[in-house]
Amino acid sequence: MSSSSDNRGSVAAATDPIASSPVYPLGSRVNERGRLEVGGCDVVRLVAEHGTPAYIYAEQDMRERAAEYLRAFSERSSDFEVIFASKAFPCTAAYRLFEREGLSVDVASGGELHMALAAGFDPGRIHLHGNNKTRRELEYAFDNGVGHLVLDSFDEIELADRLLDRPQRVLIRITPGIEASTHSYIQTGQEDSKFGFGLADGLAEQAVERVRASKHLELVGLHAHIGSQIYELEPYTKAIEVLADFTSALELEPELINVGGGLGIAYMDGDEPPSVDDYVDVKVRGIERVFYPVPRIAIEPGRSLVGNAGVTAYRVGTVKEIPGVRTYVAVDGGMSDNLRPMLYGARYEALIADRAAELPDTEATIAGKHCESGDVLIEDAEIAAPRVGDVLVTPATGAYGHAMANNYNGVPRPPVIFCDGGEARVVVRRESWDDLLARDA
Ligand code: LLP
Repeated sequence: MSSSSDNRGSVAAATDPIASSPVYPLGSRVNERGRLEVGGCDVVRLVAEHGTPAYIYAEQDMRERAAEYLRAFSERSSDFEVIFASKAFPCTAAYRLFEREGLSVDVASGGELHMALAAGFDPGRIHLHGNNKTRRELEYAFDNGVGHLVLDSFDEIELADRLLDRPQRVLIRITPGIEASTHSYIQTGQEDSKFGFGLADGLAEQAVERVRASKHLELVGLHAHIGSQIYELEPYTKAIEVLADFTSALELEPELINVGGGLGIAYMDGDEPPSVDDYVDVKVRGIERVFYPVPRIAIEPGRSLVGNAGVTAYRVGTVKEIPGVRTYVAVDGGMSDNLRPMLYGARYEALIADRAAELPDTEATIAGKHCESGDVLIEDAEIAAPRVGDVLVTPATGAYGHAMANNYNGVPRPPVIFCDGGEARVVVRRESWDDLLARDA
């Protein structure tokens, strides 16, 4: 498949607003009962059994997106590595799925490392990130033989070298001074960043010298990640050029260049992110043009592997019409299962899953259940006339939804349900009120 939308070329896609949407999981549709179907499962029936809110994923969507990255690379390069940035969706079942698909994995903490190991990831295929890895996290990584450590600070270089008693392959994280056009909270490549080593100030060069002088750190390459939810590909080319200038100035011959993740996804119908092919093309061609010999090319997608694979299903609890002002539709989740609207002003669509084919004829603001006025999932959403008891779905919540879920107001976190060929399985169970007491000392 050359882009996610090409994959929907069924006859139904022409008439089915869900099947033709780039926002819903691949293979989603309106079924014969007029309801939303994800991974072959009727969402209304599914939540009648498992409750709401629930994160519902089409497993096949994730597999296809992993395969799409691998295919895009294998058509262009013989030496590459696709690394699942697991912060987007850290759950053991997802680690297992991507492990089976042949991806490597990026973990950003000891906890993510623990899940990756539990899922059976070959430690050699794990890349450990973090701007403040603790001694315990480093020890855990070294004890388990983690393949690559991405160094982020001078203090970490000292600590890692002291803890090691054998060679460890490392990359140095560079902040290439490129500002990607995305929300400032998720920009990471600019000079003024808590991540990595800057070039302009000479810190990156000093980091290389320190690693070269270390006893156990074996410098195999460089890493740069310029941000997330990126639609423009040009900054990647620039970042690659900057890395190449740096390596040639220092006469480094990197074996591996990791140019991070960041590919944006469609959150709303009409959003047009670049295709995986174009994204991979920019990275492969960019590196082949300026690096000689050509290193292994690694990328670290998170959002684009899982974001559109998942939807969140809620139950409508109240419909409050304020005459002449607006209608609030309150659902049984909100900022505890999806922080993104509040944190980044992120926009989502909504759909009444019970009447998925009905034209949206009502403007309503979808509010959460938390004691905070700002707990609004979608301002002025276009939906079919909502009723109390309806199942309301927000698509494109597969990345950084479950990942950033919290217990604000003592609200238990939703389950994660994988659907495939009409079969559903709970891969993370719903949190209970008793779970909220489980850590009491
Ligand atoms: N590699 C590194 C080093 C990263 O820091 C990130 C994301 C990724 C890869 C994956 O980027 P992706 O392909 O998912 O764009 N919570 C925010 C996103 C924060 C991203 C942090 N780093 C959100 O909900 O939009």
